[in-house]
Amino acid sequence: MQQVNLGMIGGGTVGGGVFQALQRNGDLLAARAGVGVRLQRIAVKALDEPRKVEIPPALLTTDWRSVVADPQVHIVAELAGGTGIAREMILTALKLGKPVVTANKALLSACGEELFAAAREHGTNLYYEASVAGGIPIIKSLREGFIGNRILRIYGIVNGTCNYILTRMQLEGAEFADVLADAQRQGYAETPPDLDIDGHDSLHKIGILASLAHGFWVKPGQIHVEGIRNISKMDIQFAGRLGYAIKLLGVVKKMPAGTRRTAPANGGPVQVAVHPALIPHTHVLASVNDTFNAVFVRGDVVGDTVFYGRGAGQDPTASAVLSDLADAALDLKLGTRNRLPPFVPHERNGRVLPMADAVSRFYLRLSVADRPGVLAKVAAALARNKIGISSVIQPEGHEGASVPLILMIHDAPNRAMSRALAHIGRLPAVKAPPVMIRVENFE
Ligand code: HSE
Repeated sequence: MQQVNLGMIGGGTVGGGVFQALQRNGDLLAARAGVGVRLQRIAVKALDEPRKVEIPPALLTTDWRSVVADPQVHIVAELAGGTGIAREMILTALKLGKPVVTANKALLSACGEELFAAAREHGTNLYYEASVAGGIPIIKSLREGFIGNRILRIYGIVNGTCNYILTRMQLEGAEFADVLADAQRQGYAETPPDLDIDGHDSLHKIGILASLAHGFWVKPGQIHVEGIRNISKMDIQFAGRLGYAIKLLGVVKKMPAGTRRTAPANGGPVQVAVHPALIPHTHVLASVNDTFNAVFVRGDVVGDTVFYGRGAGQDPTASAVLSDLADAALDLKLGTRNRLPPFVPHERNGRVLPMADAVSRFYLRLSVADRPGVLAKVAAALARNKIGISSVIQPEGHEGASVPLILMIHDAPNRAMSRALAHIGRLPAVKAPPVMIRVENFE
């Protein structure tokens, strides 16, 4: 049995999980792949840090450079995280021609192009299954399983923290701030929680998926992002009455080529966004609850597919890292060091659709004075922007008092909706900033 040696950087939750999974299933992996992965060294921040998973001290060092440079180390796993020194760790290993496995979505989102180019230049590979949706093999599916498909749609619930908070708000009728505080107390949400709840963790993951699916690197600044801070229990309840759940959704839509003569032959731009969305109860993604992740992929050959599982945590992430380790070990064994490049920039005309041009349906909640003519003024502001109403709810109130007014809006461009909302927000009868949430029908 051939064997390759692994140098790991990071002995925290993910590193500890990989150590444990290799102990548990390393022999199985070797039997299946025909090549074993042996842990040679682990670089950690401090030798005496408390660890959930006990690692033999003889494996530990605080010198990551010595791990990467060790001639006995054939594969490097960067599991340290962060966007600072992790970049240097990965580049150093790639320059030595060593394949690298990483779980680092934030770094890939910011520096993916540079890191993948370095892998190409040095004839080696960079594997990143664990960077998106934890234990769900979505990277491998896009890279290999769907290699013969044009990817028309990706919808992802890829942040467990947000999904957990929204699920509890829905089930308990609780407000965002209360659930967040409790989730932090219980260790389900980070402190500070901003990266998750403001949508940036989802943005990193959706950007990686969009880039991989469409063959050009989607930069984080090109992705429209909204988090879940402004979702209230009232919106979740009204959405429920209308037949929808609210989820934080990553959306990647390939638009058809326009009618203009300049439209590229291979279709139009790609919409890439992260925002809360109303999802019909009848759609499979509406029942993805708690900390679970799910990714929906529509290919032009395969049709619709859905992947579901745990998107974070020690064991699901370790499962993804082991899959990459097996691939890297096989490449080394077979001398196919770059059998399937990590990311191929094959789309020279690729571009991201400006969010203002993206079209969707909308849920709109206004707080209005209950007096004659208010609904007419709101409808007129929408009509002036060629926006149609598909349904209206106004719970019975007292004349003159403030009441919620819920409007479901037909397909409209975001630009027109923003103009109409600016107008509506200035109407004297409108008592609070309008709440607007997009509605996704998965067409
Ligand atoms: N904090 C993320 C989540 C996991 O809540 O899903 C790491 O990306």
